Amino acid sequence: MICSPSFLSCDFNKLESEIISINEAKWLHFDVMDGVFVSNTTYDNETLRRVKKVSNQFFDCHLMINNPEKYYLDYVKAGADLITFHYEATEDSKSLIKSIKSSGVKVGISIKPGTNVSVLDELLPELDLILIMSVEPGKGGQKFIHHSLDKIEYLNKKRIKFGFNFLIEVDGGINFETAKLVKKSGNDVIVVGSFIFNKENRNELVKEFENVW
Ligand code: DX5
Ligand code: ZN
Repeated sequence: MICSPSFLSCDFNKLESEIISINEAKWLHFDVMDGVFVSNTTYDNETLRRVKKVSNQFFDCHLMINNPEKYYLDYVKAGADLITFHYEATEDSKSLIKSIKSSGVKVGISIKPGTNVSVLDELLPELDLILIMSVEPGKGGQKFIHHSLDKIEYLNKKRIKFGFNFLIEVDGGINFETAKLVKKSGNDVIVVGSFIFNKENRNELVKEFENVW
């Protein structure tokens, strides 16, 4: 699997060196929160610009914000390679998918634990990635919600049956035990936050997560 570290729980006073501590990860996960769609606020596109100076990783940008159609372009301009927005945060997912694609980056959609995965059915052919939230979005360090595995399996089956190309990503509560479970269900990308940032040997952990079987 691809391991996309989320630096939400890093020490923001030394952001640059924290990013360098995970420089062997191919992807980097940006958790953007607006204090409205979720109660916490994190950072905005300026943080992407700052990180860009010390990283050439794939910028995996997770927008936990309302009205993503208004703001996504700021993140594209700041260096995002993939923009993932929330199904629950916009009225018209279909046209937002089109707009994001035509801005030249990859497009993903995310659903919260309480949202039924079948709402995405008609969007599946258009998407580069689907992000299954395995905790309530809003903060790191929560416990993995096990029914997320059913959503991953559902998407993986659809992908095989219809030959879709999207990646499946899961976010929240990932450790080595839950990483194995999601891998078995057909998952491709894991977001790992506190489990990596609570430890020193971060690049080693990234490698171990990539090789989970
Ligand atoms: C939750 C965020 C996640 C989270 C992951 O809203 O989207 O990326 O920070 O952190 P852990 O791995 O600590 O659950
Ligand atoms: Zn995230």
